[in-house]
Amino acid sequence: MPPPAAVSRETAPKARSLPPGLLTKPDCRAARKLAKTMNFYEFVDDMSAEFGAAVSLSPKLFMFTASDLIKETLRNTQDFHKDALIDTTFKILVGEGLFTAEGRIYDQQERVIKSAFGKKYFGEFRRIIDDECERHLDEAFERSSRDGKPFDLCAQSVDLTMSIAARSFFGVGGETELARRFRKGLVFVQDWFAKLQAAHFAEPMLRHIEDSHLRLPILKSLQRSVFRGLSGSGEMVEAIAEWKAFASDNHAAVHATAADMRAGCAKIIELRRRDGDARGKNDVLTSLLRFQSDPENTWLTDEVVIDQVATFFVAGHETTSDLFVTLLWKHARGETPKEVVAELESASDMICEEQFLFQRYPAAYAYLSRVLLEHPPIVFTVRQAQRDVEAGGYAVPRGTTVILALNAAQDIDVAFGFGRRQCIGRVFALEEAVLGLRRLIRFELALEDPAQRPQMTQGLTIGYSRSPVPILARSKRTARG
Ligand code: HEM
Repeated sequence: MPPPAAVSRETAPKARSLPPGLLTKPDCRAARKLAKTMNFYEFVDDMSAEFGAAVSLSPKLFMFTASDLIKETLRNTQDFHKDALIDTTFKILVGEGLFTAEGRIYDQQERVIKSAFGKKYFGEFRRIIDDECERHLDEAFERSSRDGKPFDLCAQSVDLTMSIAARSFFGVGGETELARRFRKGLVFVQDWFAKLQAAHFAEPMLRHIEDSHLRLPILKSLQRSVFRGLSGSGEMVEAIAEWKAFASDNHAAVHATAADMRAGCAKIIELRRRDGDARGKNDVLTSLLRFQSDPENTWLTDEVVIDQVATFFVAGHETTSDLFVTLLWKHARGETPKEVVAELESASDMICEEQFLFQRYPAAYAYLSRVLLEHPPIVFTVRQAQRDVEAGGYAVPRGTTVILALNAAQDIDVAFGFGRRQCIGRVFALEEAVLGLRRLIRFELALEDPAQRPQMTQGLTIGYSRSPVPILARSKRTARG
């Protein structure tokens, strides 16, 4: 008997059509504007305002912007997998970790890896987070109050979240040097991934727009250059060429850096194994090493553990440092809401709290949700149709890449992904943010340049913490501090 999903596909009403967008109107204003400004985020808004929730960008590239449609796609893990592009990009660093794995490999990992983030470990995670917040936030703020010198919100957020990740995921404390080396490599590798990804999306879009304007097949190249001059798309052509050149010039260097980063992960595993005290600890890596001895888990080889370590670093560090940059920056602008301050000031012992902190402190959670929607660390994710499918009543041909514009959905339920593949670190990130906020409200911060905003660095995450310009602020202990 066929599985239920296949039955529902066969009996589903015939898909209406391909989504509107560049397939129906290749010379739309949004595309012209994108060619000139290269602002992808504005493009997403413009396209969804003009065409609605599902937009075609080329015959095999669509974009979904509405929450329902994004959820429908993410829920359908059978027909939509992660995009094949990750095989030659992301996987060189994180292998078949939880983020990239599909099918049987994912099925094997899911229960085991997720259980290392189980509720029973949160007491220990909270102690580490609070300790690191004290070490990084309190100390920096105190120093600035005392010396009257400013500090960089971005560097502070990176150091804080790096130390939290190193200790709670891998048990490495003082020797976060390895983690720091990993971070340095990450910036380069992510840049490379992001440029390849941008070219991968933009090139077929541009080709489709151009092809729909070329009337005389024999004079194609002449028409192409005239079109580029007239439409302004020449700038996009140059950008794509630059991204591709960067990708090919740095191909070998990126592979070498990724290999070096994975060697760093192997070293972290070795340190953990050699640590006699590890037995009673519950950092994520110790749990994974413990699970290795279970006869059911022969698949959990050292190589697979390296994949997970690299995955947690990549997925769990920069996202949270971007969130902290925003929280610190907003605090320095006096934007931490009064009800959050009141709620957290009267908070009892958070470490031993039974409930997850985001459930226990609703004002803080409401604020964090707003911040995550306004400044999402992950702006979009991508899926690829494994067969001809239907989504939101539209036909999605096999092989189509679908960009899921999480930020356009403006729904906290999708900010961390949705369904079976929702973020494994969601609760961890929220705990970290609530504990961080509680320390933050004891100080006042003031930006050196009140007009300065976090700068987006378009990588795999939004990359506020990678801002090339420091965001300087001074701090002062408040009466309640
Ligand atoms: C503010 C912080 C964070 C945000 C906004 C965020 C966002 C996301 C999103 C949107 C996804 C879904 C991607 C997709 O379906 O394609 C995801 C998945 C994932 N995240 Fe996070 N994340 C955050 C923090 C973390 C942390 C702290 C970890 C710690 C390990 C983590 C690990 C992962 C992993 C392993 C996945 C893949 C889960 C799976 O496929 O089963 N993330 N995250």
